[in-house]
Amino acid sequence: MFTSDTLKNKTILITGGGSGLGLEMAKKFASLGANLAICGRTESKLENGAKEIASEGDGQVETYVCDVRDYDRVDEMISEIVTDFGDMDGLVNNAAGNFLAASEDLTPGGFKAIVDIVLHGSFNCTHCFGNYLIDNERKGNVLSIVTTYAEDTGSAFVLPSACAKSGVLTMTRSLAYEWATYGIRLNAIAPGPFPTEGAWTRLVPDKSFEEKFLAKIPAGRYGEPDELANLATFLMSDMADYITGECVVIDGGEKLAAGQFNFIDQLAPREKLKGVFNAMKETNKQ
Ligand code: HXC
Ligand code: NAP
Repeated sequence: MFTSDTLKNKTILITGGGSGLGLEMAKKFASLGANLAICGRTESKLENGAKEIASEGDGQVETYVCDVRDYDRVDEMISEIVTDFGDMDGLVNNAAGNFLAASEDLTPGGFKAIVDIVLHGSFNCTHCFGNYLIDNERKGNVLSIVTTYAEDTGSAFVLPSACAKSGVLTMTRSLAYEWATYGIRLNAIAPGPFPTEGAWTRLVPDKSFEEKFLAKIPAGRYGEPDELANLATFLMSDMADYITGECVVIDGGEKLAAGQFNFIDQLAPREKLKGVFNAMKETNKQ
């Protein structure tokens, strides 16, 4: 589907691009011709990530120590990127924080930490980048990584993340309309579980939990980072130039669990179920 020049000459900032899914997207984008800027709070993580990214392509790779919660630093970083690369075309809001907690035990500081990283961080980056594009009459593209619980359901035990990710999705749709006139596109990806060290150390406490987690996915497996990176590539590329305000779920069907009769599959093996369905068909004929 992609050719080696799919993202040629595009300069893309991925927040939290030094690890996990951010790094996987960065490597894919680099292999398809993009120049990459990655930011995060930990310099060593960024330096290691940058080496991996650089080995995937010929484009420029730069790192920026930046806490996305700090608007002034984000604004400064966008200026630094434009100076270092000459321009900037895309932003992936990927940096996030999360932990499991009973909501009655959350401290205001715990709630604030996550909402600040996820919602304020995504706003800060989008706002600074958007203003750069508008001031310079350039087209651009913002992709935010949300979660499947950002829409419809929310989720128990990750309240700050659920609130913040919903906000990011709403920002995406609001600005997709408001900024279309400037040639700025905004989309989101809602991944189901993709094992990363960052997520698993904070959200998957033990083996039995892990088994239950996996059993909820109809596809019977977790997502592969490359699958997410391919989707992100498409949405960041000119092939998706007419797509804006969209949120694409990539979760092996996990989000569809609410389907009214879905539980039947867990009652018996499929062949046995078919026997029951056929018996009912015969009965109903009479
Ligand atoms: C309850 C906690 C907590 C925990 C921190 N806090 N960890 N509360 N349970 N496990 C509270 C602290 O008590 C403090 O509140 C406040 O949060 C800030 O804590 P700090 O340690 O100062 O925070 P900070 O250094 O800013 O670190 C942020 C962090 C940390 C989010 C807490 O985990 C982090 O750096 N995470 C980044 C990476 C990450 O989380 N990746 C996973 C993304 S996965 P008080 O009130 O005491 O001051 C994801 C996927 C979801 O989002 C979907 C999966 C399928
Ligand atoms: P991860 O490896 O923990 O990545 C998070 C990255 O964000 C890290 O590189 C981290 O680096 C950076 N970061 C955190 N706080 C930051 C801050 N304040 N400022 C700048 N950078 C910050 O997690 P992941 O699993 O790859 O998750 C990536 C994205 O996918 C997140 O948006 C997450 O919500 C989403 N997602 C993941 C899954 C999954 O199953 N893995 C599922 C659904 C959605 P530093 O700590 O060095 O700053």
